[in-house]
Amino acid sequence: MKVLVVGGGGREHALCWKLAQSDRVTKIYCAPGNAGIALTRGRKCGTVECVDIGAENLDGLLRFARRERIDLTVVGPEAPLCAGLVDRWEVEGLAAFGPQQRGAELEGSKVFTKTLLRKNGIPTADFNSFRDAEKAIGYCLEHGGPLVVKADGLASGKGVVMAQTGEEAAAAVRTMLIDGAFGQAGTTVVIEETLRGEEASILALTDGRTIAVLPSAQDHKRAFDGDQGPNTGGMGAYSPAPVVTPEVEDRIVREILVPTLHALNREERPYKGVLYAGLMITEQGPKVLEYNVRFGDPECQCVLPRMTNDLVDVIEKIMQGKLDENGVDVSPDPAVCVVMASGGYPGSYKKGVPIHGLDLDGQLGLEGVTVFHSGTSRGSDGKLVTTGGRVFGITATGRDLSEALGRVYDAAPRIVFEGGFYRKDIAHRALNRGHS
Ligand code: AMP
Ligand code: GLY
Repeated sequence: MKVLVVGGGGREHALCWKLAQSDRVTKIYCAPGNAGIALTRGRKCGTVECVDIGAENLDGLLRFARRERIDLTVVGPEAPLCAGLVDRWEVEGLAAFGPQQRGAELEGSKVFTKTLLRKNGIPTADFNSFRDAEKAIGYCLEHGGPLVVKADGLASGKGVVMAQTGEEAAAAVRTMLIDGAFGQAGTTVVIEETLRGEEASILALTDGRTIAVLPSAQDHKRAFDGDQGPNTGGMGAYSPAPVVTPEVEDRIVREILVPTLHALNREERPYKGVLYAGLMITEQGPKVLEYNVRFGDPECQCVLPRMTNDLVDVIEKIMQGKLDENGVDVSPDPAVCVVMASGGYPGSYKKGVPIHGLDLDGQLGLEGVTVFHSGTSRGSDGKLVTTGGRVFGITATGRDLSEALGRVYDAAPRIVFEGGFYRKDIAHRALNRGHS
């Protein structure tokens, strides 16, 4: 089977790494991939081949998939899904894993999702949506803080402002609705109540009827230790997240995932793929912060290594609508992913910085440790250099959380590049709950 993975970050490296373990896969292409992905070798498929086509260049990707007779396209990021990649592949008789455009609206439009949740009594923060700046500002000032202001559309995780006061919320509204900071994605805003509790990510696989919940994970959004500093795409993750007890998971499935799937089906938005719920576990129970329609990054890097099935088998069952025939098997060993980022991230940072410490496979050769590359490429002399804000997701598994953490933090300082930094407190919430 020939597989094309779309995207070029740490999540896509984890996907290529997992797919490469399948005996059924004979060739993997990754568009555009990165320097670490290009070093990933499979059991039967040789080394992953990176092709220089952007993840949002649907025409280019389709031409490539047709020409190379790709049997399965696996999409990493949300933008191609929201742009209708799966629909276009289906028209051509090609197979792509993920929801069609109508399903992908769950991530593409916050207004759509919040309305669907409210209509169906699915727990989420109370909200109002506005297109009119004056009305939105009036609402913020009258209501007062704290409030969360969100751009409706895709904004690469940057379209959310946690405002402490009504004035701050009004300023965020101005940036979005008047200054047009997020272009089309910010012509409508959602203003919601601030939820209190602990966050968790639940990634589920679904064929539209059956739901297979993957092990829980917790992301670390802030740049620095102690959850200080600006929000990022995610500085690390671990799995499982103890806040998601079996009882909480059961509520997430019954009160959130199942009714969401039913609601989508009623709206004739059949949904196949990854359904990723960003949740706040509040005193009243789990509530939806957002839905994503793809694997999380960096959650994927610590969830996939725990899955013991052949990913191709599972994807195939999902696409056939027969997920009930193939459960997901999970290793009890926890996993931790620590992200190494470029100095300055999530603000501006240098690119092309030489990276030291990795072997010729782009790895460290340590037991239980896999280095997923997020932002690496080859410099003009062929040496490994940085090319992104998030550069690596170093993942370790272990018999327990302490062993996984010991391994990951033994590994991290061995990778050296100027300005590189990482959080030293990934999984601190689990440790504070007494889990080791
Ligand atoms: P979102 O992209 O909607 O998940 O928001 C990004 C981050 O903002 C979340 O991971 C939370 O940390 C925070 N956030 C979003 N909405 C809320 C809310 N209603 N209450 C508290 N925190 C929120
Ligand atoms: N880890 C957050 C995301 O993938 O959106």
